[in-house]
Amino acid sequence: MSAYTHETVLSVRHWTATLFSFTTTRSPSFQFSNGQFTMIGLETDGRPLVRAYSMASANYEDTLEFFSIKVPDGPLTSRLQLIKESDRILVSRKPTGTLVIHNLLPGRFLYLLSTGTGLAPFMSVIRDPEIYERYEKVVLVHGCRQIAELAYGERIVEDLPQDELIGEYVRDQLIYYPTVTREPFHNRGRITDLVTTGQLCRDVALPPLDNALDRVMLCGSPQMLKDMRSVLEERGFVEGCASEPGQFVLERAFVER
Ligand code: A2P
Repeated sequence: MSAYTHETVLSVRHWTATLFSFTTTRSPSFQFSNGQFTMIGLETDGRPLVRAYSMASANYEDTLEFFSIKVPDGPLTSRLQLIKESDRILVSRKPTGTLVIHNLLPGRFLYLLSTGTGLAPFMSVIRDPEIYERYEKVVLVHGCRQIAELAYGERIVEDLPQDELIGEYVRDQLIYYPTVTREPFHNRGRITDLVTTGQLCRDVALPPLDNALDRVMLCGSPQMLKDMRSVLEERGFVEGCASEPGQFVLERAFVER
């Protein structure tokens, strides 16, 4: 059996000159946990050209969704950004990843902190009914340079609260906090600064971060992860994994080189 399934592109959305997302068919045999990633790509010269992508769709949906940057000279994304409806892509049958709920201890509030395309796995996590059973509040933070890069914002604010399955959870328990660093916006600043100054917790009207009670998932650029990990470790947060659930977990947003 091939390591990949062939899926058909159903829709493509270009958010900005550098960001796009697309949906595809989903093979019924492709099973994953919300927050995981898999290798996807295109067949070029008879060979798979693939990169890691988080599923931005929930694991109970009939279709798959992916969120990507466009790297001008990137071997994959320079081609992938040209895909259109009815094109075919490769999807690896083996999803994996650390941003899964069972790598975290139970707790009070769950913080999902992302920059750029690091939002993708959290679009899946916030549609998982189980997280709302496990945590009282789920705070989704998305940090970008410009407002236009705050992809999915409308869907989170307008569509999710009406969702048949999770609408009620979203209305009662999800707090969405977009923040921008390079132009005026109602929330401004880097995630690291918003956490260290306490501004984030004040703005969302929650008590200060506490490792005994709060849990954190991180997804973003390597430097953001490094800095944010230090911020959390200084506050006593311990990293979790599948064999030993902890107080935070992280995964880099996959950027093509
Ligand atoms: P800034 O504009 O101050 O660099 P990028 O597009 O470079 O991945 O950045 C996405 C967002 O992440 C931007 O708002 C950027 O802020 C922010 N960012 C970049 N590096 C870090 C970091 N080390 N810690 C926290 N936020 C960061």
